[in-house]
Amino acid sequence: MDVDIGNALASVASPGVSRDSLERLDEQVADAHERIETGMAEGEHGYAALNLPERTDPDEIRAAVEPVADAEALITVGIGGSALGAATITDALDSDTETVYLDNVDPAWVSNRLEGLPLENTAINVVSRSGTTAETLANFLVVREAFEDAGVDWTERTIVTTGDSGPLRDLSDRHDLPSLKVPDGVPGRFSALSAVGMVAAAVCGHDLEALLEGAAAEAETLTGSLFDCPAYAYGATAYALDARGAGMNAMVPYAESLETYSEWFAQLWAESLGKDDLGQTPLRALGVTDQHSQLQLYRAGPRDKVVTFVTTRESEDRSIPATEVEDLAYLGDASLGELLEAEFEATEASLAAAGRPNVRVELERVDEYELGGLLYGMEAACVLAGELYGVNTFEQPAVEWAKNATRGLLGGGEFEEAEAVAEKTELR
Ligand code: PA5
Repeated sequence: MDVDIGNALASVASPGVSRDSLERLDEQVADAHERIETGMAEGEHGYAALNLPERTDPDEIRAAVEPVADAEALITVGIGGSALGAATITDALDSDTETVYLDNVDPAWVSNRLEGLPLENTAINVVSRSGTTAETLANFLVVREAFEDAGVDWTERTIVTTGDSGPLRDLSDRHDLPSLKVPDGVPGRFSALSAVGMVAAAVCGHDLEALLEGAAAEAETLTGSLFDCPAYAYGATAYALDARGAGMNAMVPYAESLETYSEWFAQLWAESLGKDDLGQTPLRALGVTDQHSQLQLYRAGPRDKVVTFVTTRESEDRSIPATEVEDLAYLGDASLGELLEAEFEATEASLAAAGRPNVRVELERVDEYELGGLLYGMEAACVLAGELYGVNTFEQPAVEWAKNATRGLLGGGEFEEAEAVAEKTELR
């Protein structure tokens, strides 16, 4: 990926960051890079995720999904980091396999998702690093029952990805299901390029090697300077803008296929950096759709945001048919691709003209290679930002708090978090 931070500089934007400040920040980037490199070399928790391009074995993943390689549909059961990486990849790329993601436990929605699926030719991909997440386990049990009710042997159609132990591992062993392991040291939201994200990609027939090669190429760019490394340029600029008042970061891809990517980014940024009263709030938007809603706020509302555009240099195009109405002749001379590009350029220029900071992340096209680079690049950007904030990027105590409280409230064990919820409820 390429990153252009020109519209985030203090000479054109407010809040903005001056070139001098970035040069001073670059000394901290160099130190952070040393810590990141050491963490990677020693396989430390979290940093180990940046080694996935060389650790993930596509053959192992393809062998595990072999029994369901011809599936017409794929249900992925998982939540947060155990679902969003896979969803980002499969939503971005074309495939004949229908994909359904079950993360939420809203009963009507779950039933609706399962309705009409060809279960006899549907694969189940269950993913939970801890193997204990209530939503994932509950949805898996519901899916399993749906298969049983339809007379389909779910054990023949399920692949499990989880840790070495835990209830999901027990279930998998008990039924002798094909299973893969979440690699050690890789937190959920950094696991898209492991089996966690790539089982779904494999069932959908995507090129796993190209995903990893794109990520590996991005890894090659990690050097000690934000001026030489697109991922660090992004992480450092976002951090510097936050320090100057841009406490929100609106991710705006100009490609419908990247809408889920914004959701993945929002999780990565929020769950990794939102600690110790620090962090930048991610917002999700889509070009061109949100030009007709959120753009008003981004251009004229509070000066508390940076807008991140993701664009592609090449994409499929379709011409706009000519019309008999003279005022619409300009459309007949163009294509939808040209219109999309003009909309993006107009939006970027409109923010720049209003002095609103924005950053452009550019991909050649949306394919496996570029997507691998984008996911890896944003993960590296996030790890760098975490170092600059001085937070523990790889933990998520607030998320764990709510998970424990939920289990405790349902009688799934003794958790002090559940007692706190019970006390609060009594106070009402
Ligand atoms: O990034 C994270 O750590 C979380 O979003 C987890 O992925 C999410 O809570 C699901 O956890 P698990 O994979 O243990 O089911």
